[in-house]
Amino acid sequence: MYQIVATDGRAKSAHMETVHGVIETPVFMNVGTIAAIKGAVATTDLKEIGTQVELSNTYHLHVRPGDQIVKQLGGLHKFMNWDRPILTDSGGFQVFSLKGLRKIKEEGVYFQSHIDGHKIFMGPEESMQIQSNLGSTIAMAFDECAPYPATREYMINSVNRTTRWLERCKKKMQELNDAEGTVNPHQLLFGINQGGTYADIRVNHARTIRDMDLDGYAIGGLAVGETHEEMYRILDEVVPELPQNKPTYLMGVGTPANILEGVDRGIDFFDCVYPSRNGRHGHVYTNHGKLNLFNAKFELDDRPIEEGCQCPACRNYTRAYIRHLLKAKEMLGMRLCVLHNLYFYNHLMEEIRLAIREHRYSEFKKSKLEGFLSKED
Ligand code: GUN
Ligand code: ZN
Repeated sequence: MYQIVATDGRAKSAHMETVHGVIETPVFMNVGTIAAIKGAVATTDLKEIGTQVELSNTYHLHVRPGDQIVKQLGGLHKFMNWDRPILTDSGGFQVFSLKGLRKIKEEGVYFQSHIDGHKIFMGPEESMQIQSNLGSTIAMAFDECAPYPATREYMINSVNRTTRWLERCKKKMQELNDAEGTVNPHQLLFGINQGGTYADIRVNHARTIRDMDLDGYAIGGLAVGETHEEMYRILDEVVPELPQNKPTYLMGVGTPANILEGVDRGIDFFDCVYPSRNGRHGHVYTNHGKLNLFNAKFELDDRPIEEGCQCPACRNYTRAYIRHLLKAKEMLGMRLCVLHNLYFYNHLMEEIRLAIREHRYSEFKKSKLEGFLSKED
């Protein structure tokens, strides 16, 4: 059940009811590929930093520890002790970003495990079966995230196959939800729009999948090498073609600025590894740009990362101390930076929702973007 509570221009804010609780959008999902948030962040920490949705990956959990094992242990929610919504990506994107042998056929993709090299086949039915075993709240359709750049001919063939795969995903998901012993019989399915930077292919594809009555619509195959302007141009064309009464999800995006622009074009869901990856390298976000805490100028800086930030790092520790931990390669240094960054993203989304609901999104976006560029520290 998805209900828009406010719109401001093309930006929208909604409540999405799921069996694992309500999701307030726009939302940033915190990435835990292998059911672990990198940087020694526990699911108990996620509650403290305002995470609404956790994201994990089908392919990685299939390879290790195995989706059958997770199912026997009661599903992913129980396994990782997270009772709020979980979205699982289908494996499509992860398989395509693996190096080495990989063959795409009508039935699915043949490739090798990144752990021990053994041969694996994954198609739409396999992806749905694995996601059903994991019991996530939202399952993603199995798609091809085409390489960038790709020729028109490649893209048309790829998108048509992704549509046929989506039909198979939908059928399989229905069977699995109706079967006995399913971990989450209310599992939702989001379809994925593809087409690279070819606006006409994207729009045709969006029109084809919008009539398939899916629970939500993602836009994939972006942030893969094209410019930000190209990405925004595609969103301008595609989002209006997707159902207004369903959630939209911009996969793998992005920087705080990308998120502000995505929201402005009607996106509800985002996910990205940036806050955790940057945090692990001592790079932290503030409303006045990013800081590198390894920098010598923080040696005697006894301020928090950001004044007024309510995250566990800023409420308790100084820049100088966190810098010291990072330099000494203490795990706590990374952990505090990741907690701050995830809190920063989650808090930004909270501010975004409020600005939409108070119909001042455009001024809000402008002042945030100016702040990010101001580089004060
Ligand atoms: N994550 C980022 N981009 C994509 C995409 O195009 N497809 C899938 N399945 N996941 C993604
Ligand atoms: Zn903080």
